[in-house]
Amino acid sequence: MEKLNKDKLPRHIAIIMDGNGRWAKKRILNRVSGHQKGAEAVREAVKTCRELGIEVLTLYAFSMENWNRPKGEVNALMHLLKRYLFEELDEMLENNIRLNAIGDLENLPNKVYKVLTDTIEKTKACKGMILNLALSYGGRDDIIHAVRKIISDCEAKKIKPENITEELFSNYLFTAGIPDPDLLIRTSGEHRISNFLLWQMAYTEIYITDTLWPDFKKEDLIEAILDFQSRERRFGLTSTQIKGRKKKGV
Ligand code: FPP
Repeated sequence: MEKLNKDKLPRHIAIIMDGNGRWAKKRILNRVSGHQKGAEAVREAVKTCRELGIEVLTLYAFSMENWNRPKGEVNALMHLLKRYLFEELDEMLENNIRLNAIGDLENLPNKVYKVLTDTIEKTKACKGMILNLALSYGGRDDIIHAVRKIISDCEAKKIKPENITEELFSNYLFTAGIPDPDLLIRTSGEHRISNFLLWQMAYTEIYITDTLWPDFKKEDLIEAILDFQSRERRFGLTSTQIKGRKKKGV
């Protein structure tokens, strides 16, 4: 922790929490046990990000494609999510964490939707960190959703097509008002972005670790941030330009 440069922290960390199934298989357990252990790793990641002063943590907790998993596994994940929200409310309030959710939330079972919207409402004044859960989320769906709203606002003459900019488009996405992720972490060694935050990750630094999500601890998160801090983010410029800007304090 001491090695971290506090002035160069990512504002927004996004995580693809992969490997719960493999973690369970290695121990001859069922997949749900892997997800249960994964929920513990979620608690640790949230706590660590809050301690470090990260502004936004986005977790890919359930993708649109995950609806196609066996019914028993989907139900277990929904149950885990509901329990997590119930159990973590006090912790979120104590630590000034605001809950937000992105995705087609109306697809969630009623009980999950209810506890989710209640928690969002109860934590809405918290300013310490945003915990952003991607639920029934797909990056392409996010973009299509935004396009539909933009067309409808054009037809209603609220906006003009010539005024559509990247910034305006961003504000029609589920992540409106949230800065783009600086760092994406993917556990369990897969090199894919799996339909996550497609528009938002244009300039995100990607960190992949072989560690399976249930084994992902505070030290692993710090390792990922240290790796991020060692990179030069150029946003399409040359290295010399970046160094010149730094000298001028831009
Ligand atoms: C991917 O592992 C993980 C998921 C599809 C679900 C993520 C859910 C959790 C970490 C637990 C519940 C979440 C919260 C917010 C409390 P996988 O099942 O695809 O693993 P595999 O690729 O090894 O099979």
